[in-house]
Amino acid sequence: MSFTATVFTLFPEMFPGPLGHALSGKALQTGQWACDAVNIRDYTENKHNKVDEVPYGGGAGLVMSAQPIDAALDAHAGKPGRLVLMTPRGRPMDQALCRELATEPGVRILCGRYEGIDQRLIDKHEPLEVSVGDYVLSGGEVGALVMLDAIIRLLPGVMGNDLSGTDESFEGGLLEYPHYTRPAEWQGRTVPSVLLSGNHEAIARWRADKAIEITTARRPDLLDTEQAAVDETVSKERKRP
Ligand code: ADE
Repeated sequence: MSFTATVFTLFPEMFPGPLGHALSGKALQTGQWACDAVNIRDYTENKHNKVDEVPYGGGAGLVMSAQPIDAALDAHAGKPGRLVLMTPRGRPMDQALCRELATEPGVRILCGRYEGIDQRLIDKHEPLEVSVGDYVLSGGEVGALVMLDAIIRLLPGVMGNDLSGTDESFEGGLLEYPHYTRPAEWQGRTVPSVLLSGNHEAIARWRADKAIEITTARRPDLLDTEQAAVDETVSKERKRP
């Protein structure tokens, strides 16, 4: 079963872009997901294919007109998935949202440009408004690529080793513990000896402790909001064989 991403944008050539490479690129090639970029400009009804206008009330910048976006959405009404609007005003994207979207048959993503989109289009279609962070991008496209990357790797069968996703940052409400690989000594730096001990219980405990330590130091907000998830992760780590 394939996941369909339909992206409504003024810059369709930006898709699949980086998602055509590496893990998501392979998944695209093997049909685990499909990427359909719709050019909003193709749906204008004015002579010069204008997609924006000056804002009512004055001010700097241009506002994307409702008409071409509405027509583009209507022309692709059969495409699966929730309608998401990329905007700095949206709900902050997190791993839980990506996990949720990855269980759905697809997603329809609307990318804004300029100062924003005519509010009446948003009121009519009621998209889920999502932000990829507290900074302003020049448009929603890069945000859409970020969101799709995070979703695609979670699609069933996309990650080679399905377990590799369960321990990583955010999955248990914590940032991930540090990793080491061969050689055991590199430029005079050694690997924590517990990782060489073969004692799986001690390794699990060390990793759980490190995850808490790093999260406490870097993102105490995650601990505050996810205390229950933390407790669960710690007890799971401690029980691991
Ligand atoms: N468009 C512009 N800035 C954005 C952001 N931070 N997140 C999502 N879409 C955006």
